[in-house]
Parts: sequence; C-alpha cells; structure tokens
Amino acid sequence: MAIYVSRELKQFHLQNANTSYILKVLPEKVSLGIKLPNGRIPEIPLPEGTLVNLYWGKKLPDGDMGYLMQSFNGAASFDSMEGRLPYEMPFHGVGYYGDAALKVKNAQGNDLVYLTYAGYDICKGKKPLKGLPATYVESDDEAETLVIYMEDKLTGLKAEFSYTVFAGSDAIARSVKLVNGAEDPLRVTRLPVASVPFYGKDFDVIHLHGAWARERAVERVPLTHAGARVESMRGASGHEENPFIALCRPGTDEFTGEAWAFNFIYSGSFLAEAEVHNSDNARMSIGMNPSVFEWLLEKGEEFQSPEVVMVYSDKGLNGMSDIYHKLYRTRLVRGEWRDKERPILINNWEATYFDFNTEKILKIAEKASAIGIELFVLDDGWFGVRNTDNCSLGDWVVNEDKLPGGLAPLAEKINSYGMKFGLWFEPEMISPNSDLYRAHPDWCLHIDGRKRTEQRQQLILDMSRRDVQDYVVEAVSGVLRSANIEYVKWDMNRNMTEYFSAKAAPERQMETQHRYMLGLYDVMERIVSAFPYILFESCSGGGGRFDAGMLYYMPQTWTSDDTDAMERLKIQYGTSYAYPTSAMGAHISAVPNHQTGRVTSMDVRGDVAMSGNFGFELDLGKLSEEDLAVAAKYVERVKKLRGILQKGTFTRIVSPFEGNYCSWQFVSEDAKQAILCAFRRLSEPASSGKRVYMKDLVPDAVYRDTETGKTYSGAELMYAGLPIRFPFPPKDYSSLVFVFEKV
Ligand code: GLA
Repeated sequence: MAIYVSRELKQFHLQNANTSYILKVLPEKVSLGIKLPNGRIPEIPLPEGTLVNLYWGKKLPDGDMGYLMQSFNGAASFDSMEGRLPYEMPFHGVGYYGDAALKVKNAQGNDLVYLTYAGYDICKGKKPLKGLPATYVESDDEAETLVIYMEDKLTGLKAEFSYTVFAGSDAIARSVKLVNGAEDPLRVTRLPVASVPFYGKDFDVIHLHGAWARERAVERVPLTHAGARVESMRGASGHEENPFIALCRPGTDEFTGEAWAFNFIYSGSFLAEAEVHNSDNARMSIGMNPSVFEWLLEKGEEFQSPEVVMVYSDKGLNGMSDIYHKLYRTRLVRGEWRDKERPILINNWEATYFDFNTEKILKIAEKASAIGIELFVLDDGWFGVRNTDNCSLGDWVVNEDKLPGGLAPLAEKINSYGMKFGLWFEPEMISPNSDLYRAHPDWCLHIDGRKRTEQRQQLILDMSRRDVQDYVVEAVSGVLRSANIEYVKWDMNRNMTEYFSAKAAPERQMETQHRYMLGLYDVMERIVSAFPYILFESCSGGGGRFDAGMLYYMPQTWTSDDTDAMERLKIQYGTSYAYPTSAMGAHISAVPNHQTGRVTSMDVRGDVAMSGNFGFELDLGKLSEEDLAVAAKYVERVKKLRGILQKGTFTRIVSPFEGNYCSWQFVSEDAKQAILCAFRRLSEPASSGKRVYMKDLVPDAVYRDTETGKTYSGAELMYAGLPIRFPFPPKDYSSLVFVFEKV
C-alpha cells in the first residue's frame, strides 16, 4: 500500500497490492495533444486546479500518467472539450452533459458549482465517519488515507474527497465531505459520492435486482449508450435493487477478467448509474438519490457522505467478491460476534406465526435442544395485543396472556435446556392501532392533512426526531434488560411514504430520509454498544435491507423470507457478489415451502442452509423420525464445519442463473480443508452427470474425501474435476456435499 504524490506532475497515485488509482490536478490550460494542419496545438482554458481521474485498474509502477488525458480529450468536435474531461467529480452546466454530477444551489438561484484543487493531506490509518457506518482499521499501519481539499471560489463551497487504501485489502474506501465556507446558505441537490470515468465503453453492467422473497438476482447486461440506472427511493436499500453496481469486460467470468465495483455503505435510498457519453467513454457512479435527497448547508455547516467501497479485480467476479468478503468480515463488522462462531438457531415464525403460548414455545425449544440447537428465537407476536399483523408495533410490553410472567421465566427455562434465548423486534415501526400512536400521533413520518399511507397496516416512526430515537432506545433496552436475551432480530417491514417530519423546518423537509438513517444509525450504535454480548441480526421483510451499512451494526442479516432451497440457491449466490456468507442467515424450513409450495428433501434444505448462518424455521415436532435425524445430522455437521463455513474463502463455481446446476465451495485459509456443494434443480434423463472443477487448492497436495476416504490431488480436483453423480433413482432437487481434508 502506498500513496505517491508528485508535486511536479500534480499527480496522486493510490496503490495497494494489486490496484492503482491515479488522479491529476490540471493547470489552467490543457493541451489536446493534437497538432492541427496549421501547426497549432489547441488548448482548453480551464479554471486552475480541475481534478481528473486518469486511471483505476491493475497496479502500475508510479510514473507520469498525464499522457492518458489524450484519450479522453479527443479531437475538436461540436461538443466543448470541457465536457469530455475525465472529472473526478463532474459538475453540470460547464459543458459536461452526463447524468452523475454534483449540484449545489446557491443564493443566486443557480446550482452550478465547480470545485478546484486547494491542497491535500495524507495520514496513516483511517478516521471514523462520525455517525455513519464505515470500514475501519485496528491500527494505523493497516491503511493510509489521502484527503484532497477542493473549493468553489465563487460560492464558497468547500469539499474534502477522502480515499483510504488498505495494506491487507485491494479495496479503496471513498467518501466526500461538503462544507459551506460562505455567508449565504447552499443547498446540495445532487451528490454522487463516487463517480469514476472509464476509457472506452466495452463493458457489461452487473447489478442485483429483486423483490420480496427473490432478492439479489444477478443481472448482467451490455453497457450501451442508453446506460443503466439502479436505485432505491424507498428510504431503505430495498429488495428491488442493492447499493451495488459493477462494470466488467464482456469476457469476464467468475474466475478471470476485469471487474470494477462500487458498494455503498448505506441503508437508505441511493442511486447508482453507468453511462456512456458521446465520446464513447463510460462513467460509473453511486451516491445519494437526488429524487429524495437535498441538504441545506448554512454558513459553516458540513455534510459528511456515507462511504463507497470501490473494488477492482482482474481475477474475475470471484476475485471482486473475495475482496468485499474479507474486508467486510474483518473491518466492517464489529464487536464480540465478528470472529465468534455463530450459534445454530431455531426461529418459531414459520412454525407458529402469531399463534403461540409458553407451552408451544417450550415444546419447540425442548425438541431443538435435544438435537443440539443452541439458540431459540421468539419472533413476532410476543408484545402488546399482537395476534395478527394489524396492531401493537411500538408497544414493547410483553403480552402476558400468551407468556404469563413475561420473558424472564421463558428465557430462564430455555437457558435450562442449554440454549440461548433471542427475541424479535421491529423498533422503527408504529401501528396506528397502538398505545404509542394514540399517545403520539405525530411521531410517524407524515404530512399534516394528507393520508398516511399504510403498508402491512403500519406506519414508520420518524427516526429523524431525537425524542423518537430516545423512546426507541429506552423501549428496546428496557426489554433487553428484563430477561437473559442474547440475540435480537431487528426487523423493518415496510418502506417509506410521506417521508417528511413534523419536527423539521420547511427548508429541511427534503433531508428527512437521510436524517432518518442518521437517527437509526445513532439508535443502533447506542443499543449495540450497551449490549455488546448480544448477537444482532437485521432483517427487512427478509432481505430488504441487506447492505453494508446494517452490517456495521449487526454482523448478520436475514437473507430472504424465501426459504425454499431452490430459490435460496439464487438468492445466496447473488448476495455473495458483495457480502460474505458469514453475513447471511439461512434456515431449514418446512415443506411444502411456505413461499413456493415446493417440496425438497431435508438434505437439500440442509446443504443450502449450511452455506450461510445455519438455523431452522419450523416445528421440529412435526417432522418424521427420519427427517428429525437428518436435522440432527446437519446440526452436528455445521458445528464441525462452521469455522470454515464462516471464515473460509467462498467461491462461486456454477451459476444457478445459467442452468440446471449450481455449485460453490469453501476453502479454509490454510487450504487444508475444502467443502464443495453441488446442486441440481431438475433431474435429467440419460445425463452423464456433471463435473465440477474446484478452485484454489494446492495442486500437489493430496485431499481426502472425508466420507469415502478416496484421495485426490489438488490438481485433479481443480483441472480434471470431480464427477458429480446425483442419487439414483433420479429425482428433482438434489444436492451433494463433499468435505475434503488435506492429507
Ligand atoms: C418479516 C420477517 C419474518 C418475520 C415476520 C414477522 O416478514 O422477514 O422473518 O419475522 O416479519 O412479522
């Protein structure tokens, strides 16, 4: 890792083990590098100090990269040359006609801004972003940070562009701080936090789209002049799109080729775009969504953006994911549970829905403890008068009709079975039919005089308000103190409408969505630091807020409400593009599956679920003896293997989006253990089976299949492949798992 600064070239070169990122400050005149027939070399006059991006890609030696400007300038054309510059942060109204640009409204009423270079600083380590989730370091030797100071001389806007390179990671973390250095107010109306120009347009765009119960499907489309726009305006990162976007070469696959990716460490609305300009050069950006975001900066006020993690890989898409996985697992996720083995849990939601009492719960827990399950999670329905989903959110008081004596004796009883006790909350919500709403009808997001749009018969608490934040901290903490609760599922089951606040001044109403996120982050910080021993899992109607922002507070996320094994192959495969398997909750649920009606075997459900944070979501009492034995087998297996399942290198091998098969593997850090999982959706008559080629083994080491005892060299498993013979007689929905140990 290094940051080279050349005062002479006015060039900054950020470098980590395999990546270079190069910026340059331009002088007042930039040559186009072309000699016209009349001998003149045309020059563009510019405000002095324009910051451009020359390169982001495979590591380069440090040197003068200014010549790369020529391929961005192009020859004279109808368009102004200014529009074609590879701006590090583009601005509208100065000849640049792309979409992603910084816009800040000033007292004169226009929103034109032009930031120029005003200096830099380099420091060891990485400073936290106040009030925001971000990657971190544990010692200053782990990273170096470059801050480039920028200013707009006319309006007084100042900016700090911050870039961190890590010693142990090929990622670059980037954020922007805006400061009003003038007398008059400024209003930020558009803020792409990271925006990078690319030479050429020969790219595919990858993004993760979905809906409730089918989150993060991988979609890959060629980048054309029509561009690609991926966004959420929902006040949550959302089921529909994830704050992740990547460009890759058309030939890039899982194992080879180049990819460039952005992942936004943010849980609210966002906008990510890839565009091709008329110069046939591309740009990719990600940041705040201007449809639902504005920010007023009074004199001296500042706005700190969330962070973007930028990853370049020349080892295909797995190379890209591996960089995200390792950084997030070790330097985004925090707290006691970051490195600890996660407990195997059972959750009562699909077993009972709202229809439970102490007796039913204890029955499930007792059965669970008998097969070695370590944590019982009581889901929705334990508070207020909540016997269906039309009431009581906000009233975090135990329903003693269902649970006489409250949570403490229940937790105690469950502890006496040798299990931990965990609890579901939906702290950001309020039911119109609740004591809380009757007492504080203005505590929800709303606009006076307008209908309050309900989803799942609930409204959203206005987390931008301090009084609401304090209420949530108190209410949740009170319950957590009342019993031995060692796990929390933090749910959020609807998206924002009327996203405005009774407390905010008119000129700050458009800040509400982001202020909500800041309030939520503050509330979560207060709660997770007060209860460091609790394992928190976030959830949002399944995976509606599976993002790096939430992972900073809560080390795992419920991946999807869809627990059907076949659907989960796609969901977990897509989620792994940016997020580690240690972040994904994955459970065995009942069949016919409650989301798809599909019937799959316990083994298939087990093989899929053990690939994430393993657990159960069913009534074990309803299983046949045979299935219960299989459930017990998986508990035992996960206990043995979870070290490598959580911390090993996860590699996607065969994509479920491309055909009938799916396969992935885990390899321990020392390559001594490897787990290969192979899945087949539909049985194929007269098929010759499938060979799966493993990755990242030691070629001349010998690996033993722990079940059959057969040995193979690493080279055989990687280059000749392992023949996968699914069971006979043939059936749909099959899986096989192989555990190898280095001899
Ligand atoms: C959401 C969650 C489920 C469950 C229900 C309870 O849908 O994703 O797992 O907790 O809420 O209402």
